[in-house]
Amino acid sequence: MPGPGRFISIEGGEGVGKSLFTSSLATRLKREGREVVTTREPGGTPVADQIRAVFSAPAGGERLTMEAEALLVSAARAQHVAHVIRPALARGAWVLCDRYADSTRVYQGALGDLGVADVEALIRFSTGGLTPDLTFLLDCDVALARERLARRPGDAAGQVARYDQAQGVFHQRLREAYLELARRGAGRFRVIAADLPADALVAAAVRALEERFGDA
Ligand code: TMP
Repeated sequence: MPGPGRFISIEGGEGVGKSLFTSSLATRLKREGREVVTTREPGGTPVADQIRAVFSAPAGGERLTMEAEALLVSAARAQHVAHVIRPALARGAWVLCDRYADSTRVYQGALGDLGVADVEALIRFSTGGLTPDLTFLLDCDVALARERLARRPGDAAGQVARYDQAQGVFHQRLREAYLELARRGAGRFRVIAADLPADALVAAAVRALEERFGDA
């Protein structure tokens, strides 16, 4: 019998190293013989990836309203939850999700100025209330994150570039909004200093999983 599924999300601003962290943690967890599903938002299913492409590069360079942004990421999330996340959890898999609803709270809510009640209603509607068991917030100095972004290859497939190019003040507000969210939802969040070397990051994450679940 597989153990219970676990839903773990990974959040943070641009350039904090979420994808490397997610894949390194997955490799470590798979060594225990677990089924681990790594996925990301927006995206994670063929249709959700189509929506990501619209979100990332709207046709004709048309500006997306903040409401449209919130609806697009929510539509992608509804597909992702129904077709990937819930089935994986039902099989007893551990799901590592690079961004989830907290990204909507921060990008479209806190920074995009959409009201909390609307954002929370959208999140409930699109996820049916599915909330991560634990969320890692990768946090680092904005200057370091921007340095990493500058080294990223341009136009990488599926890359959402709009926010990468934003000004430093945007990245600072992003960082503060995430830390505030973590303070308010303290039970679910584990804040990890993202400037640690990759193996130290994974070790810190495994310790947090052991504390939370007792069996990582
Ligand atoms: P990333 O995969 O490189 O982190 O890019 C995803 C981008 O999409 C990032 O700029 C954050 C943005 N995003 C939102 O604005 N709202 C959301 O709900 C999600 C999941 C992502």
